[in-house]
Amino acid sequence: MIREAQHDDIAMITCMLRRMVEDMAAVGGHAVSQDESDWKEFANVIKNQMTDKKYQYLMADLNQSKEVVGCTAGEIIMLGGVFAPKKILHISAVYVFPAFRRSCIASQLLEALMDWGRTEGCQLCDLNVNVHNPARRLYEKYQFEEFRLQMVRAL
Ligand SMILES: CC(C)(COP(=O)(O)OP(=O)(O)OC[C@H]1O[C@@H](n2cnc3c(N)ncnc32)[C@H](O)[C@@H]1OP(=O)(O)O)[C@@H](O)C(=O)NCCC(=O)NCCS
Repeated sequence: MIREAQHDDIAMITCMLRRMVEDMAAVGGHAVSQDESDWKEFANVIKNQMTDKKYQYLMADLNQSKEVVGCTAGEIIMLGGVFAPKKILHISAVYVFPAFRRSCIASQLLEALMDWGRTEGCQLCDLNVNVHNPARRLYEKYQFEEFRLQMVRAL
């Protein structure tokens, strides 16, 4: 079952997003902070975002036990300035605990988040994914296409 996150989900969301960046680091992403105070601060950021209508946090529960198995997060971005106005849903996180992967839980989370974005009037949905992350296949399944290339080099 997919549902909107509540205040008492914040610790679980923080835990899942910490695991998410650890998984991302294992496939070529940036190393993860080991400083506990950074994660406390991050929990605070989530808490503040949950009271802001621009953000949406969704949880996936197992139907029978109500055990939390995954989550996703999105933010509405207003393109403006030198660009023509456009409302974009930016997907900032998707995570499913390893034991529950490949059972369409992330798919259900993404569909519910994109439905929310459509309801909010977004015309486009975007996200970032590392080139070696197998999550790319999930996004390709949902017709996400490469749009911008981020280039890096050592200094
Ligand atoms: C990426 C992630 C969210 C996918 O969750 P999931 O619940 O297993 O995804 P789904 O079951 O909905 O997958 C749907 C389809 O996406 C594709 N897919 C998902 N994970 C895949 C993988 N590891 N390798 C290849 N294809 C994959 C498949 O086509 C899959 O369909 P199939 O199982 O019938 O082949 C999960 O693996 C995860 O939490 N990874 C670590 C965190 C992370 O990297 N998040 C993304 C950050 S950009």
